[in-house]
Amino acid sequence: MTGTTMRAVVLDGPGPPEALRIAELPVPEPGPGQVLIRVTAFGLNRSELHTRLGLAEGVTFPRVPGIEATGVVVACPGGELVEGQQVAAMMGGMGRTFDGGYAEYTCVPVRQAVPFTSSLPAATLGAVPEMLQTAHGSLTTGLDARAGQTLLVRGGTSSVGMAAAVLAKRLGMTVLSTTRSPAKAAALTAAGVDHVLLDDGQVADEVRHLVPDGVDTALELVGTPTLPDTLRATRVHGVVCFTGMLSNEWTVRDFYPIEYLPTGVRLTAYGGDATDLPSSVLQSFLDAVDAGEVTVPVHRTYRFDEIRQAHADMEAGVAAGKLVVLI
Ligand SMILES: NC(=O)c1ccc[n+]([C@@H]2O[C@H](COP(=O)([O-])OP(=O)(O)OC[C@H]3O[C@@H](n4cnc5c(N)ncnc54)[C@H](OP(=O)(O)O)[C@@H]3O)[C@@H](O)[C@H]2O)c1
Repeated sequence: MTGTTMRAVVLDGPGPPEALRIAELPVPEPGPGQVLIRVTAFGLNRSELHTRLGLAEGVTFPRVPGIEATGVVVACPGGELVEGQQVAAMMGGMGRTFDGGYAEYTCVPVRQAVPFTSSLPAATLGAVPEMLQTAHGSLTTGLDARAGQTLLVRGGTSSVGMAAAVLAKRLGMTVLSTTRSPAKAAALTAAGVDHVLLDDGQVADEVRHLVPDGVDTALELVGTPTLPDTLRATRVHGVVCFTGMLSNEWTVRDFYPIEYLPTGVRLTAYGGDATDLPSSVLQSFLDAVDAGEVTVPVHRTYRFDEIRQAHADMEAGVAAGKLVVLI
């Protein structure tokens, strides 16, 4: 049974972490084609930092942020999902154009709720959806990555970057990951990364020292300040996928392709959705975690009432892996 009200984090407009306030709101009523989820945990994302800083486009206020949540179905009027089913919900306007996962309950279109079954801890399950979807979508749709290839992850200690390294190693790739912080190198090695590169803005020479022709594939998560160097680190007919912008810079001014792109290097992008994460991929990843074959890079968990601290930590960039709030 659901109560009539729930605790939710509300953002009335852009501001510092203190702009996030905990409020009592009505539990959302699911309509046809929607599912009401009792949230057990939610991961934090840069997208929500962008929303709080006023950098995100298309966000309306007041808003319950959160582009992802993990929990259990409590109501699904169309019957597409049964009550009690575990689901991971993400993207599609969650926390941006409609209220998202920073709440005890969230209501999303059914197509954005990916079912799974797992007895893993809530913190582990809460960390997975968005980083797995983004890493999986970038490696498959974005890069068409194959066993035996090399992968450079620019922004390697981000949760997406660490998830990409974990998936790439499972696929049989050689992984090079960057961090600006020597203190985070051990976390990358523990995630299975083969070569940790200290990023001062220029890593292409070091990459080519390790892989003389350049890497086969590269995942750009830092943004346009490092993109030209990532392109230089990639081989002819290799692929760079632009997925993230940790630097908060994502546009290229006066883009002249012949000057910007090294000859023969291919540039693509990934901006995905829940539909890019098939239930079978999520289930197999969680089963591999359960079997001890894969580790989920959770940096730290927070209580619901620690949301401001969690956001301050995300903004300070202290983490190597995912920040997760438990409900
Ligand atoms: N396209 C999509 O569909 C999609 C979906 C989800 C996320 N994303 C994007 O993917 C990126 C990663 O997201 P996330 O939530 O995984 O990030 P995150 O876990 O919050 O990343 C934190 C890490 O980012 C690095 N970092 C912070 N500021 C940086 C800067 N100015 N330059 C270089 N590195 C910086 C820091 O690494 P070091 O201190 O170790 O250098 C820090 O450990 C974000 O840009 C996000 O917007 C895209």
